[in-house]
Amino acid sequence: MQKYGVNELRRMFLEFFESKGHLAMKSFSLVPHNDKSLLLINSGMAPLKPYFTGQEIPPCKRVTTCQKCIRTGDIENVGKTARHGTFFEMLGNFSFGDYFKKESIAWTWEFLTEVVGLDPDRLYPSVYLEDDEAWEIWNKDIGIPAERIFRFGKEDNFWEHGSGPCGPCSEVYYDRGEAYGCGKPDCTVGCDCDRYMEIWNNVFTQFDNDGNNNYTELEQKNIDTGMGLERLACIVQDVDSMFDVDTIKELREHVSRLADAEYGKEYDTDVSIRVITDHIRSVTFMISDGIMPSNEGRGYVLRRLLRRACRHGRLLAIQGKFLTKL
Ligand code: GLY
Repeated sequence: MQKYGVNELRRMFLEFFESKGHLAMKSFSLVPHNDKSLLLINSGMAPLKPYFTGQEIPPCKRVTTCQKCIRTGDIENVGKTARHGTFFEMLGNFSFGDYFKKESIAWTWEFLTEVVGLDPDRLYPSVYLEDDEAWEIWNKDIGIPAERIFRFGKEDNFWEHGSGPCGPCSEVYYDRGEAYGCGKPDCTVGCDCDRYMEIWNNVFTQFDNDGNNNYTELEQKNIDTGMGLERLACIVQDVDSMFDVDTIKELREHVSRLADAEYGKEYDTDVSIRVITDHIRSVTFMISDGIMPSNEGRGYVLRRLLRRACRHGRLLAIQGKFLTKL
């Protein structure tokens, strides 16, 4: 498999969906607009909610973006594991009442196997328990044998974040091989270990959640997809974590130089290097989008990230102000 860089993969994705009639739009700000349910944009679909509900008319019924996102739910784990982070870029293709499951699944497969060149034998789709339609498309149209298609319940295969458009989804997992596995005899797709990595999520956006888990059918059927750019890069570049992919590794190495510390030798040092590498990404994009440190709301998230990054700098014995250098 060819080892594409993060910037190449981003471009390949947007160009692929442009070739399928999508309008490539710039990433929206991290600050949600008219959405009280979110402090920060946390997915590709979040800034597009009014287009899914029909409240606003989209500039095109097919849109593709690479959206900057922040999720801080797991902030305490950032650094401690190689897989947690607060900042990421989400690739997505969206249909507002235009194409639906058939095209979305076919293009998922075409992009992953023909454009990126992932080995089809390492890919495993999953569908929502009752979604026979998606199952049939994977099986009959794409030709995936029945035993390779998994059915999961609401916890795994129903997508929603905050209030707004949501629905059942169909994901694609990539088998990273035994070396990444837990070794348990029943280890398979859906296992918590690092072997089967979820890379792409096709959400069939059919419902609107009013914020109190009351669901109503949307007038139009939509597609909302999400694929973490850094995660895809991990697979394509065959590296252990997002801290090892080309662009983020540059930043990680810069932190190491400032700290005069080698990465990959000692656990506590690695934790601090990873915390700073991740947090400086969130902090830089938050400030660029006009967020200022404060005692509440998203300003407090920023203050917390800044403090954690500074503190880990001190733990690495970096002297003086150093975050601006990153
Ligand atoms: N909105 C779909 C996803 O982020 O996975």
